[in-house]
Amino acid sequence: MIVAIDGPSASGKGTLARRIAEHFGYAHLDTGKIYRAIGRAVVRAGGDPADPAAALEAATALDPASLDDPALGGDEAARAASQVALMQPVRDQVLDFQRQFAERPPGGAEGAVLDGRDIGTVVCPAAHVKLFVTASDEVRAERRHKELLERGEAPIYARVLQEMRERDARDTKRDVAPLRPAEDAFVLDTSDLDADAAFAAALEFIEAR
Ligand code: C5P
Repeated sequence: MIVAIDGPSASGKGTLARRIAEHFGYAHLDTGKIYRAIGRAVVRAGGDPADPAAALEAATALDPASLDDPALGGDEAARAASQVALMQPVRDQVLDFQRQFAERPPGGAEGAVLDGRDIGTVVCPAAHVKLFVTASDEVRAERRHKELLERGEAPIYARVLQEMRERDARDTKRDVAPLRPAEDAFVLDTSDLDADAAFAAALEFIEAR
């Protein structure tokens, strides 16, 4: 059983993916962390995340154990992630890892939940369930702002909104694996839903399948 969840940043897809995985006892992979880890590795080595050679080198050297680093949740990693994610060779490099996780989930789990931008369209086009989670720009920026405050950062709302829109534009307008709902995805707008209500709506859809 493969559940593919896509959507823009702070749409609630990560929380939803974790809860679905927990509910069914499936393994969960946050694929954004892969691109964040690659972007951050380039920056930490003093490189430019827009440099294709540096990005590919970091993608090739990626250690899955580094995906647990809490620093990946920060804005610097997010920005660098959306730059390395524009490059087809980088995406090709991490495709196998994602597909293997989906097809042979770790720990002998009977299913996998993957969340990202291109799971239902590119990574797992044959997923049994596809969800596209979205919310208004303002609601997403508020959530992101709160998340950054909780991380101990000092975010400015207007800046969070602007950076989020820039990152969304890079993700939706890029030529390779752009962010868009798969044709057979259930679109879930969480603008007016809390995490419990979003989970209930997703569960209803999954069970109906
Ligand atoms: O989901 P998250 O905000 O952690 O993703 C960080 C960035 O990684 C996104 O803005 C996007 O550019 C990239 N990404 C991607 N494909 C995925 C997951 C993330 O291009 N499947």
